[in-house]
Amino acid sequence: MKRISVLIVDDITDTRDSIRRLLQFEDDIEVVGEVGSGSEAIIFAEGKRPDIILMDINMPEMDGIRATELIAQRVPGSSVIIMSVQGEQAYLRRAMMAGAREYIVKPFTGDELASVIAKVYEMDRIKKEVMGEQPKVFLDPKKRNGEIISFFSTKGGVGKTTLATNLAVQLANTGKWRVLLIDLNLQFGDVAVFLNLVPKRSIADLIESGPIKFSEIQSYFLNHSSGLQVLAAPTRPEYAELITAEHVEQILSEVRPNFDFIICDNVSRFEEVGLVTFDIATQIWLIVAMDVPTLKNAKLSLEVIEGLHHTPKVQVVLNRTSKEMGMDPRDVEKSLNTKISYEIPSDGRALVSALNQGVPFVTSYPQSKASEAIRTMAGRLTSSEIVDPKPKQKEQERRIQSPIKQLRRVFGF
Ligand SMILES: Nc1ncnc2c1ncn2[C@@H]1O[C@H](COP(=O)(O)OP(=O)(O)OP(=O)(O)O)[C@@H](O)[C@H]1O
Ligand SMILES: [Mg+2]
Repeated sequence: MKRISVLIVDDITDTRDSIRRLLQFEDDIEVVGEVGSGSEAIIFAEGKRPDIILMDINMPEMDGIRATELIAQRVPGSSVIIMSVQGEQAYLRRAMMAGAREYIVKPFTGDELASVIAKVYEMDRIKKEVMGEQPKVFLDPKKRNGEIISFFSTKGGVGKTTLATNLAVQLANTGKWRVLLIDLNLQFGDVAVFLNLVPKRSIADLIESGPIKFSEIQSYFLNHSSGLQVLAAPTRPEYAELITAEHVEQILSEVRPNFDFIICDNVSRFEEVGLVTFDIATQIWLIVAMDVPTLKNAKLSLEVIEGLHHTPKVQVVLNRTSKEMGMDPRDVEKSLNTKISYEIPSDGRALVSALNQGVPFVTSYPQSKASEAIRTMAGRLTSSEIVDPKPKQKEQERRIQSPIKQLRRVFGF
């Protein structure tokens, strides 16, 4: 008799061990693997196609809900069962909408778990027999369901725009993904300056012009040489008030089916436009730095985000790490009581000159440690390895502008 193959996904090793133990005497169930994050679950599922995936919700890097959504799209033959704790109803509803087949509330007994596994396996076996195994769909270009990442921080100047622009360019540079960067720093957005783009059209022009439909929205995109598309912030601060949270919600729902990644750069305070991106986003990246005031406010923000039931979407990104800060990333984890998903080293030389030249550092300084960190982010987001495009480097460096040209362009002198 074929045994039901099961993958266990949970970031806590002890939990994985105890689930494995619960299932060890079940003759018709075989645990074929265990992994500690959503992105590893996707890679495993694509390779081994287990019958059942037992998925935790709250995990660093990629939470269980997003992983479920991607597995449902890419490996429809594997059925996801969500393992939740009491009180996670809001997450559960989202998980079921993302494509989970069933859920089980922790703590559970071996019998309870085995019977849920058997039930889901049986239901899906019948469904597969009737419908035949569906073909693998990998980001069908006709029906994308973009990852929406909302960049947030509690303090200005911690590096949201720097990281958002470089990550977006890195993703677009691979040539495999459609990427949109939306500047929601509506008063003083500087994404266009970071990318050396002339903001001929902005989100304010779009709102003024009429229906917010994708066919209309796309004519307001600015095109970056990497292939990235940008919806720029208004050119003047007074236009910011034209744009409401409802507009942003509508824009995001219109663009989502047309992109693989949509990155929103926000302001550093809780306000309506940012909060609506939190609701729609698949990930919220909280950018923090190694200083006590930032960390104190980051801790408060995490509490607010928890009150909004968005905790599973949060990734903490520690920017400007340096041994000279008198603080260790592990101290930051302890004080925030949460894991850091990504660390970006401080690299003033590469970053400031990249900024003055209007060329993202991932392009102008691909060998810098900061670029390496961005490639790690992009690699994890796409479940692939992204390497340093060394051969192209010389050509790109030749294209770098002088800082004075960039000043002239921005200020028009
Ligand atoms: N890893 C880093 N190493 C060195 N400098 C950095 C790093 N990250 C960001 N910076 C610098 O910090 C400054 C502020 O960055 P940035 O404008 O991206 O912050 P922000 O969070 O978007 O600010 P705001 O909230 O005002 O929009 C820039 O000059 C940038 O070059
Ligand atoms: Mg900014």
